[in-house]
Amino acid sequence: MFKNIYTKLVVIYLTLLILIVILLSVFSIGFFYKQYSEEAQIQSLAMADKIDGLLTQYYNNEITKKELTSWIDAMSYVASTKIYVLNPDKTIINNADSSEQIFTNENVYKDITKVMEGEVVIKMGLLTQKTDNSIMYMGKPFIYNNEIAGIILLFTPVEQFAKTIESMLYGIISISILITIIGSIVILLISKNISKPITVISDYARKLGKGQAVDDLDIIGQDEIAKLAKAFNEMKREIKASEDIRKEFIANVSHELRTPLTTIIGFLKGILDGVIKDEEQTRYIQIAYDEANRLKTLTTEILDATKIESGRVMLNITKFSLSNLLDDIFMEFNQEIQNRGLVLLTEYRKTLMLEADRDKIKQVIINILGNAMKFTQKGYIKISARYANQKMIIKVEDTGIGISKEKLPHIFDKFYTANTYGSATGGAGLGLNIARNLVQLHGGKILVESELNVGTIITIEL
Ligand SMILES: Nc1ncnc2c1ncn2[C@@H]1O[C@H](COP(=O)(O)OP(=O)(O)OP(=O)(O)O)[C@@H](O)[C@H]1O
Ligand SMILES: [Mg+2]
Repeated sequence: MFKNIYTKLVVIYLTLLILIVILLSVFSIGFFYKQYSEEAQIQSLAMADKIDGLLTQYYNNEITKKELTSWIDAMSYVASTKIYVLNPDKTIINNADSSEQIFTNENVYKDITKVMEGEVVIKMGLLTQKTDNSIMYMGKPFIYNNEIAGIILLFTPVEQFAKTIESMLYGIISISILITIIGSIVILLISKNISKPITVISDYARKLGKGQAVDDLDIIGQDEIAKLAKAFNEMKREIKASEDIRKEFIANVSHELRTPLTTIIGFLKGILDGVIKDEEQTRYIQIAYDEANRLKTLTTEILDATKIESGRVMLNITKFSLSNLLDDIFMEFNQEIQNRGLVLLTEYRKTLMLEADRDKIKQVIINILGNAMKFTQKGYIKISARYANQKMIIKVEDTGIGISKEKLPHIFDKFYTANTYGSATGGAGLGLNIARNLVQLHGGKILVESELNVGTIITIEL
């Protein structure tokens, strides 16, 4: 219905304002009218009762006609009310003027007939269309010896009252117009104030959506709109950050994939061109094969990492013997570790049970153990596990080269290799990132302690 919030606000506010003004006017005039007319009616009735009394005295021959009329004249004068006392044949008893225009008024004539039939009539109204003819009249039958012996008619001019109402009406109308004008201006300003920042924010969102560069929105005040602007600024930063991560990721992946591919292509070309002699070929093919294998591992790792990150990995939680799993890992790696002149130690009880995804936990431990093997030249590697404080704590400890303090906080980052970059250690820097994500998926934590040239301890809490 409304094209924008601005017109919507203006229309709603103005409608409300006008409605309130109209209601207030109607109520105040109505209230004033009711109060006044009630008052006037009570007075008229009281006067009619007095006249009624006088008439009774007159009919009882207690007072003379002269006395009656002079009393009525006096009352009429004091209350500035015209009083007529009529016989049943409508002739006037007191000395009032019968040529008055009221008697020619059709409505009044009808009412007089009604009063003659015994009804009390009280009316407020104009005898003619002119305000200064505004009058309240009352007709009351006079009953003597159970018969209608005449009627009393009272005409009280109420032009003062009508004038008051009229000026009240003018006053209210002018105040209403004034309020409406002032209100409209205020409402226009307020609405503009509300709608303008919204327009700015929506323009901003449109630009942001198109990927255009935008400055931060100005934040004024602390209201909802300010909060919205703040949220938008934060959103912009988040978008920028994730965009940066995406770019960096692509750059890293391309780099990681390119290195082994360049080696493989170079060797194969050397063989095809005959640059590499026949007897050396096997050696080069073996290297190319190893590189191809590395490429395969790398792509699997990248796929794993992205899968976990995008939340597409479902855990297959079972209750299994952790001790068995660690035994398996020991069997798998012990020989190779011994071949490297290291010792693989274990320290856990044979009865440890764990509720987790067995394959994923195995992957985590192997990633960590793989690092320990890669970065340890002498000494030992120890795998230990124990249950304490409602937590399973698994540790992999080594006496390798360690990690410097500055690099320690980054080792769980994607593609981060603390020592030499990438292929020097054969790693892409994804192992620990995958491990941490898998542990976190389980609701656990992974911690690292390390000292250069002393060794590293990685702790998993599940
Ligand atoms: N036990 C450790 N001793 C010394 N440095 C370590 C150890 N574990 C990890 N690091 C350092 O942290 C870096 C990140 O480890 P991460 O496992 O994520 O990557 P990577 O082993 O280099 O590659 P990938 O695991 O992807 O093959 C490693 O490159 C290494 O520099
Ligand atoms: Mg690793």
